[in-house]
Amino acid sequence: MSYHLTTPIYYVNAAPHIGHAYTTIAADVLARHHGGISSGVQFTTGTDENSLKNVKAAEVANKDIQTYVDEAAHLWFQTWKSLNVEPTTFIRTTGANHRLAVIKFWNTVKNSGDIYQDIYVGKYCTGCEAYVSESDLIDECCPLHKTKPEILREKNFFFRASRYKETILSYIENNPDFISPESRRNEIINYIKNHFEDISISRQSIKWGIPTPDDPEQVIYVWFDALINYISAVGYGWDQQLFEEKWPADLHLLGKDIIKFHCALWPAMLLSAGLALPKKIFAHGFFTVNGEKISKSLGNSIDPIEISQKYGVDPLRYYLLAKLPFGNNGDFSTIQLEEVYNSDLANGLGNLASRVSNMVEKYLFGIVKDIPSTDEHNSKIEKEIKILTENLHFHKALEEIWKQVYLANKLIEDKKPWQLAKNKEKQGLELIFLLRYLVDKILLIGKLINPYLPTTSEKLLKHFTQEKITKLEPLFPKLK
Ligand code: MSP
Repeated sequence: MSYHLTTPIYYVNAAPHIGHAYTTIAADVLARHHGGISSGVQFTTGTDENSLKNVKAAEVANKDIQTYVDEAAHLWFQTWKSLNVEPTTFIRTTGANHRLAVIKFWNTVKNSGDIYQDIYVGKYCTGCEAYVSESDLIDECCPLHKTKPEILREKNFFFRASRYKETILSYIENNPDFISPESRRNEIINYIKNHFEDISISRQSIKWGIPTPDDPEQVIYVWFDALINYISAVGYGWDQQLFEEKWPADLHLLGKDIIKFHCALWPAMLLSAGLALPKKIFAHGFFTVNGEKISKSLGNSIDPIEISQKYGVDPLRYYLLAKLPFGNNGDFSTIQLEEVYNSDLANGLGNLASRVSNMVEKYLFGIVKDIPSTDEHNSKIEKEIKILTENLHFHKALEEIWKQVYLANKLIEDKKPWQLAKNKEKQGLELIFLLRYLVDKILLIGKLINPYLPTTSEKLLKHFTQEKITKLEPLFPKLK
């Protein structure tokens, strides 16, 4: 069965920022690593549209809600395209297939005896799209959104999540790889043990969303609806055969902010519906910008498109993944991005490719294809990078690849090919084999970076396998 991975589906109340790009680019690296579309990889991303946040954003934009979410979904779709992200499915929760899936899921859970009606009184934070408990609040406000939650009192449908508490706990216990990193796993065990309860899954006061099959006056709670995207994207409710082929997913990738929904509520929902659990859930850390939380109200969100237009898509992909262990929190700063760009890309890989192509043109008339290759260690490195990538150690994988870049540049400095070229008779052979070795190194690096920096990889592989290699224009012009 081919690899299946997902990102969260994003709210469309604002434009994508580098935090969203982080998850989506990491997922794209994995999808490409596993062979991409042509290998049958299933890579789902999309938009979470049945949310009150989106309704409020539509009001501010003075647009009707459907028009607003249509335009916003288009913007998100285009953003991923511009960042060279190639999902196989872009799911929208206002789509017809998703609605079919949600209705089927509701009815299945109901048939399991896990839906009941009750009165709910609680404080609701629109920012979180969740009820919040008193103990979560600071000065009566949500600590994340700094706003006072609204008080809601309604007759709601409830999901009997508590019934699955013990099953989920023992599943987590018996499957140490189910939730990672370990710190998140512990956080979830704690949460399930102490706070995981039945949850209200409908809203009477909200008019935007999927009506519940049992009362058209109520819409389905946006998280209950949104989590179902992971199965509606692959046929649940509209193509059973496809669904059986694709589910369960190998990996749900997400940020640490939404682990409770993914690691507690979602497994309970799947168990109730009699469906398999995803194989793995990985929660990465959060990016701040110059030390501050990214937030709409602070107005400090960084547009990934703007960054990619200024520095290039591959440099953005590289910076996001190379400098931070996946799972840790980090800070995004354009100053650091520029330093990394100049040192690792312009002076590192870019310089290597320019120098080697220049010397091959100058000393070998551009022709290396008849010279036998010398490097026997490639398969070992390839295997190492494969393992690192599959284990989501992206920064380590890039570090190892860049060691190859530095070693190759150092070899040039040590061997001084320009001096070898002066004494053709004695040192000619050494020069020929050295340049062949360097071209092979570049081809190896080109191959290894493919999932991470796809455009640069293609350029290198194309250029250095030509019949006649010419001097390559700088891949990454140095920033002043
Ligand atoms: N719509 C829900 C998810 C439903 S999934 C069934 C949602 N959407 S969101 O638009 O708020 O996106 C949250 C996700 O965006 C995070 O889990 C993470 O993947 C990504 N990030 C948002 N801000 C981020 C940072 N500052 N840093 C890193 N990732 C960030 O929650």
